[in-house]
Amino acid sequence: MFVTRRAEFSASHVCRIPSLDDSTNRELFDEEANPNGHGHNYIVEITVEGEPDPLTGMVIDLKDLKGVLESEVVLPMDHRFLNYEVAPFDRVVPTTPNVAREIWRRLEPVLAARQAALARVRLFESPDLYVDVLRDGSAAG
Ligand code: NI
Repeated sequence: MFVTRRAEFSASHVCRIPSLDDSTNRELFDEEANPNGHGHNYIVEITVEGEPDPLTGMVIDLKDLKGVLESEVVLPMDHRFLNYEVAPFDRVVPTTPNVAREIWRRLEPVLAARQAALARVRLFESPDLYVDVLRDGSAAG
């Protein structure tokens, strides 16, 4: 079975590669390259896979899942300028795939320590665009 919890956070970012000139960055990232940055209201969904405990009927303690999402993702990223305030985005371009992969990297070991298997991280940059990171490490979207 799969259990999914959703949370929201707002963050700013710039998508540009410092070693490339402005026009190349503009070609690659369009308005996302504007050095002033801009905000997104991100929605993240984390999915845990498992079987319900025979006694409690729970796959994972839902308070735990909420707490992990808050402490590992929402608190560190909400109302931050990702490029300047959240590692590794001082050196990794904070595109939606890269932010989604970083969320996976933060959550997977914390959930594993609670015997919970992270199955998917889905990150919406906007209501009509999202990226999925799946357990095999692939990112699509
Ligand atoms: Ni953007």
